[in-house]
Amino acid sequence: MTAAARLLAAALLGAVAWLVTLSVAAQSPTLTVTGRDSTRTFAQKALLAHPEVRSVTVADPVYRRTMTYRAIPLAVLLKGIRIDADDHLQARAFDNFSVSLPGRLAASTDIAQIEAFLAIEDPAAPWPALPDKPDKSSAGPFYIIWRRAPSVTISQEYWAYHLAALTVTDSPLKRWPGLAVGADVPAGDRIRTGLDRFIALCMSCHRFNGEGEGNQGPDLGRPMNVTDYFQIPALKKLIRNPQSVRQWPDQKMQPVDPSALSDSDLDAIVDWLAYKAKQRR
Ligand code: HEC
Repeated sequence: MTAAARLLAAALLGAVAWLVTLSVAAQSPTLTVTGRDSTRTFAQKALLAHPEVRSVTVADPVYRRTMTYRAIPLAVLLKGIRIDADDHLQARAFDNFSVSLPGRLAASTDIAQIEAFLAIEDPAAPWPALPDKPDKSSAGPFYIIWRRAPSVTISQEYWAYHLAALTVTDSPLKRWPGLAVGADVPAGDRIRTGLDRFIALCMSCHRFNGEGEGNQGPDLGRPMNVTDYFQIPALKKLIRNPQSVRQWPDQKMQPVDPSALSDSDLDAIVDWLAYKAKQRR
């Protein structure tokens, strides 16, 4: 390429980038909801004008305070979409971070126990910046929030912010049977709790023995299982707060608070990891 051609190419690329930026800025954010045989797209503005939108006040574990949102019951948004008892809803954020919500919770109509809402940020009244987010972003434009009876606990990961898409999927164990615990392990065993907590809290970033779709952190099962190369007390410390073990500026894994993962549930995750290491041998 001559110097002139290169300049022209650079100018054209610049113009295209500018046009793309313009059209993105002009578009209202959308949420895509995909069932097994249909896809619907909702625009932020249209959702805010939906007759079922109301004010919902919740104790918000992500903002760590009481918050009031304009929100629509998730069950209303999912009306007409088949969600079987065992199905999950994959909630994907615009940065591709994703978490799997049990469908029976997300579409619950037993609202005395638990009710999920889609909170919609109004561009005219933006939400505050999320605590701990260096980019100062809010939880918007779409955010899944939960109203629940005091006896019901909800994994903090289920408060899915920066939401871009919801997709009905099979349960994680159906999709990734290699995670499962053997039939010889009794119901109620800690190893089962560990698997459940691992799916809820870790799989958004980590795969295990190649299973899952997390891609931010290392596979925790192979080539070597983490319980084979970490001393167990150090591994537990690391899961609780990675910075208590090692530090560098671009560290991504956040500490997990005992309110989101109790000490005994953390032990249970490590038990499950160790169980899977033994199962492989
Ligand atoms: C937000 C994404 C994210 C979540 C959620 C997450 N991790 Fe991580 N994890 C990472 C990343 C990224 C690393 C690599 C080190 C870093 O950047 O902090 C890591 C590193 C690790 C390591 C060290 C592995 C090694 O070989 O050095 C372990 C063990 C670990 N995570 C376990 C867990 C467990 C158990 C959970 C669930 C309780 C979890 N992580 C949840 C992102 C995450």
